[in-house]
Amino acid sequence: MSDYLTIEREKLNLPKSLYLEITNRCNLRCRGCIQYRGMWEPERNMSLQEIVMITDQVPELERAVLHGIGEPLLNKELPAIIRHLKDRNVIVNFNSNGVLLNEEWQQILIETGLDELHISLDAASADGYTAVRGIDKFDLIISNLTSFSESLKRKQVSNPRLSLWFLGSRGNMSELPAFVRLAAKVGVKEVYLQRLVYFLDGERYGLARPDETLNSTDPAALRLIRESQAIADRLGLRFSASGLREPVLSIQGEPTSLSPWKRCSRPFSLMYVTANGNVLPCCISPFSTTDYDYIVLGNVFESSLADVWFGDKYQLFRKQHQTTLPPKCCRGCGGHWSL
Ligand SMILES: C[S@@+](CC[C@H](N)C(=O)[O-])C[C@H]1O[C@@H](n2cnc3c(N)ncnc32)[C@H](O)[C@@H]1O
Ligand code: SF4
Ligand code: SF4
Repeated sequence: MSDYLTIEREKLNLPKSLYLEITNRCNLRCRGCIQYRGMWEPERNMSLQEIVMITDQVPELERAVLHGIGEPLLNKELPAIIRHLKDRNVIVNFNSNGVLLNEEWQQILIETGLDELHISLDAASADGYTAVRGIDKFDLIISNLTSFSESLKRKQVSNPRLSLWFLGSRGNMSELPAFVRLAAKVGVKEVYLQRLVYFLDGERYGLARPDETLNSTDPAALRLIRESQAIADRLGLRFSASGLREPVLSIQGEPTSLSPWKRCSRPFSLMYVTANGNVLPCCISPFSTTDYDYIVLGNVFESSLADVWFGDKYQLFRKQHQTTLPPKCCRGCGGHWSL
């Protein structure tokens, strides 16, 4: 394991991975999301010009994730943004709620060369969907997904690689096995389980609360994950968790390790830029602490990306992250510490 504390300023390279929040507007208000609670920042879209300005400063950029807290399909410049990044040979993906993913968008996303599209669905039934995502759009999304995977097959193209995402909570876990079967039915070959994150240091809202999150003391959750894994194996699907962990491990934590967050490499390897240009250490931090000022490490509309990345605030964050008393966002982000 590398000790990040030994990474001195001059040995730290610019990030090869960027999260670019191309919009913080959304057409939904899901009950686990900051959109439901009330956003940290004013509404805004990021423009193609701004994306070019930011990414030009990262010559070795390898991967761009085009979502933050908002729905990427609401940004009309999305196709041009993807094309720009693909012209630079960058791997591009994003999460979407899939509501707007009609045949026109499907065609555009194929043509742009988008690498991966992750659809956040969280349920295997219309009622389950409404309980988490607050609106009855389940049948529409299933129809969008079915036509998209049929179209990919017909055109014999493999990109974008489609996957279905399930934000697991106590309330919806019983739908996980059916969710895996549903993925197979609509022709999607990858399923991911995400762990619900909530503020460890403050208010509770919607589903973002400790009694809703999954952990290893819940035998029912473990049983459902194992059952889902067996179904995925039988149907030939990939079943994984966020951070590419095995789903069971993702809720089990590491009680033997005193400071497990130290193994998180995000503050050293990626940067998250919000629609307003603010830089955060990762996409989990705005969900895991109410101390937003602390996690804003600079602004790329006001300073160069390198000045932010190598700046004092970022360095202090990295140093604290490598201690037994890390920033609040890191203490909260892993639950029993599982990320
Ligand atoms: C904020 S959304 C933005 C992209 C898009 N609007 C969507 O829903 O996929 C990105 C991801 O965050 C997840 N998410 C929302 N609330 C969360 C929470 N409290 N803990 C962990 N993940 C959460 C969503 O399920 C989604 O997969
Ligand atoms: S999870 Fe995605 S779709 Fe739902 S409110 Fe948040 S940003 Fe919007
Ligand atoms: S909040 Fe979590 S994911 Fe983000 S830097 Fe801290 S430990 Fe890593």
